Amino acid sequence: MLAEIIDGKQVSAEVRARVASEVSEFVGGGGRVPVLATVIVGEDPASEVYVANKHRACEEAGMKSVHHGLPGDTSQEDLLALVSNLGADDGIDGILVQLPVPDHINPDEVVAAIDPAKDVDGLSPVSAGLLAGGNPGMIPCTPAGVIELIDHTGTDLTGADAVIVGRSKLVGRPLISLLLDRNATVTACHSRTRDLAGVCRRADVLIAAVGVPRLIGPEFVKPGAVVIDVGINRTGNGLVGDVDFEPVSKVAGAITPVPGGVGPMTIAMLMSNTLRAARSRA
Ligand code: GUN
Repeated sequence: MLAEIIDGKQVSAEVRARVASEVSEFVGGGGRVPVLATVIVGEDPASEVYVANKHRACEEAGMKSVHHGLPGDTSQEDLLALVSNLGADDGIDGILVQLPVPDHINPDEVVAAIDPAKDVDGLSPVSAGLLAGGNPGMIPCTPAGVIELIDHTGTDLTGADAVIVGRSKLVGRPLISLLLDRNATVTACHSRTRDLAGVCRRADVLIAAVGVPRLIGPEFVKPGAVVIDVGINRTGNGLVGDVDFEPVSKVAGAITPVPGGVGPMTIAMLMSNTLRAARSRA
């Protein structure tokens, strides 16, 4: 039997519509229109497109956004000063410094300088610490989107075997905490894991976030499992995920496509975090 295809575009649209309606309620109740501030250093064309999409999504959700495009030779000190000013600015609810930043800038130091109350990317050490401690503050957008997609399938995570392939700061590590908080039995795999296919085959929910094109073949998948593919790899054959979609979709119970799976969820969760930041600051 073929797996259910989890439509990230549709789920993303649902989340964004929910946020838009909650923004309208928040503003109707006397709240100020939430404002997201974005920062790009240099001229990375992909970053320009991503950030333009974030601004469009803000507008569609009834929120405002402001953009700071800084020259590629901006110093670390000047960038830190801007991040600090945005933190002190009462008219700003969310701050997002688009990554990557140029090589002369230390991204960890910049992200750490973001006011935790406005850290809508959820990447600061404070947000990461709160999440790891089981008292989540801002949740990083991609892992939050993964959980939303799993929930959309109707899967009960309580007691489920969840296996994550990849231990990145942006996706793998936050997912360990998010899945534990949902009472899943969590296994985190990485490049040194022995018998990766065997460990993955135990999973009721298998999440691939490792950046290796089509690593996860059908021999990694328990029949009926939910398979979430976070990978976006540019190859000679176009964009492919970490999962070998065609053969795996004949084994899995539900699977996300690439593109059109996890990708569209990131912006939806950013909108949700921006509203959340505005609410808790109000
Ligand atoms: N670059 C690619 N994805 C992201 C993201 O989610 N947040 C930030 N800040 N930069 C990114």
